[in-house]
Amino acid sequence: MSRNIVITGGAGFIGSHVVRLFVEKYPEYRIINLDALTYAGNLANLSDVEDKPNYRFVKADICDLEAVRSLLREERVDGIIHLAAESHVDRSIRDPFLFARTNVLGTLTLLQAAREYWEPEGWEGKRFYHISTDEVYGALALTHPERPSGPYGDVFFTEETRYSPHSPYSAAKASSDHFVRAFHDTYGMPTVISNCSNNYGPYQFPEKLIPLFIHNIRDRRPLPVYGKGENVRDWLYVEDHARAIDLIFHEGKAGETYNIGGHNEWKNIDLVKQLIRTTDVLLGRPEGADMDLITYVEDRKGHDLRYAIDASKIERELGWRPSLQFEEGLERTVRWYLEHQDWLDDVTSGAYVKYYENAYGKY
Ligand code: NAD
Ligand code: DAU
Repeated sequence: MSRNIVITGGAGFIGSHVVRLFVEKYPEYRIINLDALTYAGNLANLSDVEDKPNYRFVKADICDLEAVRSLLREERVDGIIHLAAESHVDRSIRDPFLFARTNVLGTLTLLQAAREYWEPEGWEGKRFYHISTDEVYGALALTHPERPSGPYGDVFFTEETRYSPHSPYSAAKASSDHFVRAFHDTYGMPTVISNCSNNYGPYQFPEKLIPLFIHNIRDRRPLPVYGKGENVRDWLYVEDHARAIDLIFHEGKAGETYNIGGHNEWKNIDLVKQLIRTTDVLLGRPEGADMDLITYVEDRKGHDLRYAIDASKIERELGWRPSLQFEEGLERTVRWYLEHQDWLDDVTSGAYVKYYENAYGKY
């Protein structure tokens, strides 16, 4: 069956992997990448698919109701996979309004445009898929019970965990999740939501822990570990997330939520040491030679202690499982950044840094 799908945020980190997967796996679909190309959006992430006949890029802001309305009609869109967002917690602490604008109003704008277009014809065959984060659930404690089912505790985020966001980023994502559920419950829109843990892999903007630290190790610059490095994250290779998104888009039940995670908890400081060892070896330096770059700095405000996902629902109902061991995924990731130094240098160069204006000023 042919489908016309808008993927928002397709020029970003996860979005580019989702666009690539859909363009290559479903030649019969039309894939429209809607992205505003903020600092985090980079069309170079998709240079290998840009000439495919089933792919189109449209530069637009998800907050622009008119632009979204006309695109949905022009392309007769029947599916939306929504990834566009401001995604970095540290930026949200500096600039919460931008996060409310993009993540909350942007999501609401897409929902409203989709409803206007789809509701009169009926919801049959339509799908609005919202990509969210585990951060909406708040933070877990760090415990070491007798027989923990995970290395840092035996409590995990499930789909029933009460929302308790702490950062402006997670508060905005939580709010957007609520709007998506409201459109399902109020208008009957066939929506689905997934909440995923920390992703890593190629094309991640080097403001996030793993690519930032690979870049700094390469150049022998300090590695700023927040606080004592004791916070725990559950890491998932980005292509495994993209495969989960494919499954949920096609087989997830309308109105449902699916958690996605890697069963792969790491304390930041242990991850950083593993990253140093892997990067040193691939750079031909003695393993561990760059441990002295570790620099403990002031903690992130409101820093969530531990995230860990219970992914049993998607495993049970849709048969998804992470495919890569972390050590293998990490090595693949470091190798990619070292083999794409031009990409790293480009996105961190003064020439790349882009500003854009919106209602709240220049960013
Ligand atoms: P990213 O910052 O790499 O990319 C975001 C993309 O959205 C960029 O291409 C950017 O240009 C685009 N964008 C931003 N504002 C826009 C606007 N107003 N209109 C149109 N496009 C806009 O983000 P990412 O890490 O790839 O995350 C993608 C989604 O997945 C986000 O919704 C995020 O909350 C969610 N998520 C991310 C992770 C993770 O570990 N990175 C984990 C779980 C969920
Ligand atoms: O859990 C999913 C979330 O993961 C996504 O929703 C977010 O979009 C994504 O950015 C990510 O959020 P985190 O805040 O967990 O990711 P980040 O890479 O910024 O940080 C990972 C951990 O490393 C976190 O505990 C903070 C710490 N850190 C981060 C940076 C950038 C440092 O110690 N030093 C740093 O310089």
